[in-house]
Amino acid sequence: MITQTIGGNSHLQSSRIIMGCMRIDSLSQHDLQYLIDTAINNGISYFDHADIYANGYCEEHFGNSFRGNRENIVLQTKCGIKSGVFDFSKQHIISSVENSLSRLKTSYIDILLLHRPDALVEPEEVAEAFETLFQQGKVLHFGVSNHNSHQLALLQKHIQHKLLINQLQFSIMHSGIIDAGFNVNMNTEQAIDKNGGVLDYCRLNDITIQAWSPFTYGFFEGTFIDNERFWQLNQTLHAISTKYNVSKTAIATAWILRHPAKMQVVAGTTKPNRLQEICEGTTVTLTREEWYQIYLAAGNTLP
Ligand SMILES: NC(=O)c1ccc[n+]([C@@H]2O[C@H](COP(=O)([O-])OP(=O)(O)OC[C@H]3O[C@@H](n4cnc5c(N)ncnc54)[C@H](OP(=O)(O)O)[C@@H]3O)[C@@H](O)[C@H]2O)c1
Repeated sequence: MITQTIGGNSHLQSSRIIMGCMRIDSLSQHDLQYLIDTAINNGISYFDHADIYANGYCEEHFGNSFRGNRENIVLQTKCGIKSGVFDFSKQHIISSVENSLSRLKTSYIDILLLHRPDALVEPEEVAEAFETLFQQGKVLHFGVSNHNSHQLALLQKHIQHKLLINQLQFSIMHSGIIDAGFNVNMNTEQAIDKNGGVLDYCRLNDITIQAWSPFTYGFFEGTFIDNERFWQLNQTLHAISTKYNVSKTAIATAWILRHPAKMQVVAGTTKPNRLQEICEGTTVTLTREEWYQIYLAAGNTLP
């Protein structure tokens, strides 16, 4: 498994595939242990959580199931979403992290992300919360999720720790962060930039993008792999997967990894064999032509 530097921080190396833990509540402890072991045996050292996944049960389940050496893994969690409220107050950030630490059975979180922008955010207050958590040794690094460029810049203006990560929905079937870049100054729907050029902003500022829901379409509507609604895309993935002798899922992974922004893929599968297929995607470097062929097969057009 190839590793990469996170957020331009030369001391932070990690796997390009992250095991997403949003769906692990469906697994027995035995099956979760097997999934975690499969991840680690395939070079995955990074695990993504959130306080809200199954109301905290996913963190607790992981904390009860992980049997390896804590120092050898990167534990990331998120906070800021509550039922009906987004809350980036100092009090909520700190109490959420304390609850996550106890559920994950660890004394520190490697990377804490703010889950989804809070319109009432006071950046100075977030900065204070982060500093407190850092000084107490409870969180080592910080980042965000689902933030646009200006929201990132505003936070960074006040937070003294570099924001290393922006976790965003990105896949072959959810390619908004690249679509507008093809259509600059065009009078078309695709030219509408919905995120303030966040991809370029992250690259300019050495912020690593983590692609969430890499194999699904819509907002949790299901996978596009082997889905007859996306026949042409699957034909193309099949042809390319045959050439490289890997699965279509591996090719969908390789498509994200081929982007020079050096994104990480946050894979949410609960199946060990699928996780292995996803890891095989790190062995494939798609040609420029194949990358564009897949983009077009997903129903996109170029100007
Ligand atoms: N920051 C955010 O706002 C945010 C939002 C959502 C998710 N996330 C993070 O991103 C992670 C991944 O999200 P996700 O689970 O929606 O993404 P995903 O990896 O695209 O989807 C996984 C789901 O697709 C199913 N699937 C069916 N066929 C598949 C195939 N051929 N290849 C891969 N998966 C297939 C899986 O089922 P099986 O389990 O049966 O394989 C699983 O239910 C989450 O665990 C979480 O850590 C972050």
